Amino acid sequence: MAFVKRIDMPPMSPTSTDASPALFEPFRPEFRADPYEAYRRLRIADPIHYSPLIRKTLITRHADAVELFRHPNATDVPLRTGATPLLEMMSEWLTHRTHVRGLIARAFTPRAIRELRPRIEQLTFELIDALPRSGAFDLVTALCYPLPLTVIAELLGIPHADRPSFRELARAFARGISMAYSGTPFPPGDEAALLLRDYFDRLLRGEGDDTPVVAALRTPDEAGVVCTAEELTANLALLLFAGHETTAHQIGTSLLALLRHPEEAERLVADPSLIECAVEEILRFEPAVQLVPRVLRGDVELSGRTLPAGTDLAIIVGATCRDPARFERPDVLDIGRRDNPHHAFGGGTHTCLGNHLARLELQTVVLALVEHRPRLRLATEGVEFIQGFAIRGLETLSVRFD
Ligand code: HEM
Repeated sequence: MAFVKRIDMPPMSPTSTDASPALFEPFRPEFRADPYEAYRRLRIADPIHYSPLIRKTLITRHADAVELFRHPNATDVPLRTGATPLLEMMSEWLTHRTHVRGLIARAFTPRAIRELRPRIEQLTFELIDALPRSGAFDLVTALCYPLPLTVIAELLGIPHADRPSFRELARAFARGISMAYSGTPFPPGDEAALLLRDYFDRLLRGEGDDTPVVAALRTPDEAGVVCTAEELTANLALLLFAGHETTAHQIGTSLLALLRHPEEAERLVADPSLIECAVEEILRFEPAVQLVPRVLRGDVELSGRTLPAGTDLAIIVGATCRDPARFERPDVLDIGRRDNPHHAFGGGTHTCLGNHLARLELQTVVLALVEHRPRLRLATEGVEFIQGFAIRGLETLSVRFD
C-alpha cells in the first residue's frame, strides 16, 4: 500500500554503479522543495531508470504507469516474513486479503460517502470558525490534521476523548510500517500495533452501536464471507491511519497550491461549480503520494524493454501526472482542466479505497477556504516540506487572514 510504504531510506555511500546518479537525488533539500523539475529531466533522459539509491526501477511516463497498473504481473509489494506484532497485523490488511477489501469497500462507495457531506461540511466550518482572526497561525495543526482525523475517527466510532493520542501513535505506526517493508526492526512500531489492536478490541466489545464502516466489516456478504476478529482489528487500525495521514498532507499542499496561484482561487470563487474539477487538478499537480510501489511476479514488456520478474518498481506519480505526452501544459495549474486521468490514488486493484472520501474532504475544505472572507494568505513565502519524498506534505503552513 503506497501511502505507507515510504521508500525513504537514507542515501547509500557514493559507490553506486549508476552511470547517471545525478538524475535522481531525492534526499537533497532542493528536490524536496520542487521535485518536478528533476522528474522532468528523468522522464526525458531515462524514463525507466534504475536507482541504486532506493534500489528500485523508477517509472516516470504516464503510459508506462497505466500499463503497469493494469498488468497482472505487477503486484503489490509482498511483506517480509518474520513474526512481529506489526508484520502479523499487516499480513491481515485488506491489501493482502481480497475478501476483507470486498467487505470494507461496501462502506466506501460513492453513494455511502455522499451521505457524509453534511457532517464533513459542519466539521469543516467549525474548524474554520475556530481559526485565529488576527496574526499568523499554522494551518497544518489547526485544520489539515484535525479534519481528516475527526472524520475517520467518527467513521470508526472512536470517542472524542481518545483521539488526541492518535497522532503520536500514528507516527510510530507509520514509521514501523515503512521499516517493516524494508525489513528493519522498529520496536515502537510493534508497540503501536499492539496498542491499536488492544484499543479496537476493547472498543468493539463496548456498548455503542457499530458505525456503518464497522458494520461492513462485521457483516457477512451475500456469499457468507466474513472477517476474523484479528482481521477486524487489524483493518480498523489500517483505516484509522490511512484515513487521515495522507489526507492531511493533501489538504495542506492543495491549499498551498491555491495560495500560490491566487488567479486560480479567484476562478473558483467566480464559479464554484468547478470545485470537483479543481480538486482533480490539484491532485494531479501536487499529489501527496508521489510514489506507488509494485513488484513484478513475471516478466513485463514495457516500452520495448523487458523488465524481469522480481523487479522492484516505483511508479513516480509526481512525474506521471506531469507527463507532457498525456497532459497539455502539465506544469500549469488549470482548475478547469477536464481530461485529467491522474494517478494520485494509484491504480488497478489496489486503487485507494478511501478516494471518494478523500475527494469529498478536499472539495469541502478547499471551497470553504477559497470563499472565506477575510481571505486566507500565506504569512511567509518559504514553506517546509516533510522529510522524505514518497509522501509530499508540509511540516507547517503559516497563514493569516487579511
Ligand atoms: C488525499 C488523500 C489520499 C491519498 C492521496 C491517497 C492515496 C493512496 C494511494 C496512492 C494508494 C495506493 C494505491 C495503489 O497501490 O495503487 C492508497 C491506498 C489506500 N488508501 Fe488512500 N489516499 C488518501 C486517502 C485515503 C483515505 C481517506 C482512506 C480511508 C478512509 C484511504 C485508504 C486507503 C487504503 C485502505 C489503501 C490500500 C488499498 C489496497 O491496498 O488495496 N486513503 N491511497
